[in-house]
Amino acid sequence: MTDRLRVHPGKPFCGNIAVPGDKSISHRAFLLAGLARGRSRLSGLNTGEDCSRTRVALEQLGARHSRDGSAWLVDGLDGPPSRKDYDIDCGNSGTSLRVLCGALARFAIRARYSGDESLSRRPVARVVEPLRLMGARVSARENDRLPPLVVEGGSLHAIDYATPVPSAQVKSCVLLAGLGAEGRTVVRESRLSRDHTERLLPHWGVVVERGDGFSSVAGGMELHGADFDVPRDPSAALFWVVAALLVPGAEVTLPNVGLNPTRTGALEVLRRMGADIAVEEEAGGVEPRGTIRVRGGSALRGADIGEEEVPGLIDELPALAVAQAWADGDSMVRGASELKVKESDRIEATAAALRALGGEIETTADGWVIRGRAGRPFEGGKVESHGDHRIVMSFAVAALAAREDVWIEDIGSILTSDPTFLGTLRNWQS
Ligand code: S3P
Repeated sequence: MTDRLRVHPGKPFCGNIAVPGDKSISHRAFLLAGLARGRSRLSGLNTGEDCSRTRVALEQLGARHSRDGSAWLVDGLDGPPSRKDYDIDCGNSGTSLRVLCGALARFAIRARYSGDESLSRRPVARVVEPLRLMGARVSARENDRLPPLVVEGGSLHAIDYATPVPSAQVKSCVLLAGLGAEGRTVVRESRLSRDHTERLLPHWGVVVERGDGFSSVAGGMELHGADFDVPRDPSAALFWVVAALLVPGAEVTLPNVGLNPTRTGALEVLRRMGADIAVEEEAGGVEPRGTIRVRGGSALRGADIGEEEVPGLIDELPALAVAQAWADGDSMVRGASELKVKESDRIEATAAALRALGGEIETTADGWVIRGRAGRPFEGGKVESHGDHRIVMSFAVAALAAREDVWIEDIGSILTSDPTFLGTLRNWQS
């Protein structure tokens, strides 16, 4: 993998794009299959580095994985892990760390969760607190704030817990710990974050009770092996949706993409901006899915994104910033301070990258204000990615709509989520 990417101004691409499997769902599929009694058959998985971290962690504990063509067969843990001590390297993956530590807290083991430089700067107090309340012994670096995180689990008890920020990772951590706890665990959130865990658990045989602002599970329920086909990743798809909007003459079809309503907020914002996007949903299924069709060429107008929308498009905000900068008029984002604690500080990384390409952006404590350029091409230049896959991909897309070449530094991170990205990008290059 080259470390620097040079992107030329784009040519219109017309055709199908197959993005990888959904990353969030793949983590959960590996996890539930790994904890289940019996065999699961998983297809459509995202096999990027992040999801591999979750898979390998479960292998360390005793789950077994094999390939059947492009599918994975998972033989779940048959009883408690054999050792008492585990060192789990989560790499760059916040989801691996925050979800695994809850799911594995049921076992009377001592597990140490660590990660790369970026993950070592990401907050873990949000999982330390509920796991402690459930009876686990938990500690983390710098006053329990940062990884590595050490969890000694075993006899947990249920809690009724309101998450301090809407976070699917925290919600999943607590619900999965709840499966191994005595009593009924309830998680409440002020705004619904992605609900893949709640949707997938019943598929693996666990009843989840859901109501207005809460979900809950009873302790002691057993997971049973299941077959599951993962839809393609709507967050990966969004980069090509934005590309199609920026390159005149482009027309893109993205089949079999996840359309879970907790993940489609970015499409709604782009439509509000005047984008020509058609969505055809397939009927039925644990996770909604369907085809997205985008036709470029519409003039986009600025649109504000408010706090209530943020959980449904949190990972798409850097790419939406590119669309906002392209549009006519001003656009704001509010209530997105969580962006500061993603793989990079995505408020500052997005602003610096946009400015490097001639964009006008002011940052705020929880978002930004962008002055749109009404379809005037971006400038060429050099973008720092801060080792963040979503910054690389968002600005590779912006580069397609630039007057001159754009260089993007430190692009290895794209392997964490989308190993197909560079191949697809080549189709847009003259
Ligand atoms: C994820 C949840 C989100 C998201 C991340 C994946 C998940 O994080 O940003 O990329 O799979 O649960 P938070 O739950 O911390 O908001």
